[in-house]
Amino acid sequence: MVDSLVDLRNIERYYEMPSGVVKALDGINLEIKSGERVILLGPSGSGKSTLLNCLSALDSPTSGEYNFLGKTVPNDNSESMTSFRRENIGYVFQFFNLLQDLTVLENILLIQELADERDDNRAKKLLKLVGLEAEADRFPAEISGGQQQRVAIARSLAKKPKLLLGDELTGNLDSTTSSMVMKVLVEACEAEDITCIFVTHDESLIEYATRVIRIDSGKVISDTNVE
Ligand SMILES: Nc1ncnc2c1ncn2[C@@H]1O[C@H](COP(=O)(O)OP(=O)(O)OP(=O)(O)O)[C@@H](O)[C@H]1O
Ligand SMILES: [Mg+2]
Repeated sequence: MVDSLVDLRNIERYYEMPSGVVKALDGINLEIKSGERVILLGPSGSGKSTLLNCLSALDSPTSGEYNFLGKTVPNDNSESMTSFRRENIGYVFQFFNLLQDLTVLENILLIQELADERDDNRAKKLLKLVGLEAEADRFPAEISGGQQQRVAIARSLAKKPKLLLGDELTGNLDSTTSSMVMKVLVEACEAEDITCIFVTHDESLIEYATRVIRIDSGKVISDTNVE
């Protein structure tokens, strides 16, 4: 029986620099169960983005073990890392990265088409989930920042990821818009049964999490359930 989605054992990510070795991740042990909503906090340079990159198999740890649903995650820079990412991971960035020449709906359809899984009904359902049905045919420049981030969320869910990662996804939004985006995100993840981990500097976002993990100097310094 696999009960953890993510299981990290003694993950290290070191960078060899001329000035010496940088220990971006320095022995991370973490188990995350399906359905958890984790907020990851820590000072600048503490290793948050490095950890998300390892979780998404964009990067590989220098050493340690990473199991996802009980299976070892590929770390050999091969096509298998890309497949792992395609099958399991959704990602939302601070800058929404929408394609400006495509409409809101087309931005979502494109992701499905790249995965050879175009599904117009699902794309429209996701837009409804984030409250943007009426904006489907507008271009990104014709909607607000908060609306663009909601499109990015819908897009990240288009392929039904098991794990959704966000790096400062509200970092570019004012506090009212941040809360609105977070509410939408929580509802969407609950409706779609998606586990999520968000990096932020904004302590007020803790209210949207079920668990708060703090890291410093590449180590977990606290880990609390908050529901
Ligand atoms: N490609 C790289 N080469 C060398 N060092 C790196 C590289 N990427 C990150 N680092 C170092 O690893 C450490 C962790 O960086 P990381 O980007 O994970 O921090 P962070 O917690 O996301 O910070 P921020 O809140 O500023 O985004 C830092 O000391 C950083 O300088
Ligand atoms: Mg970062």
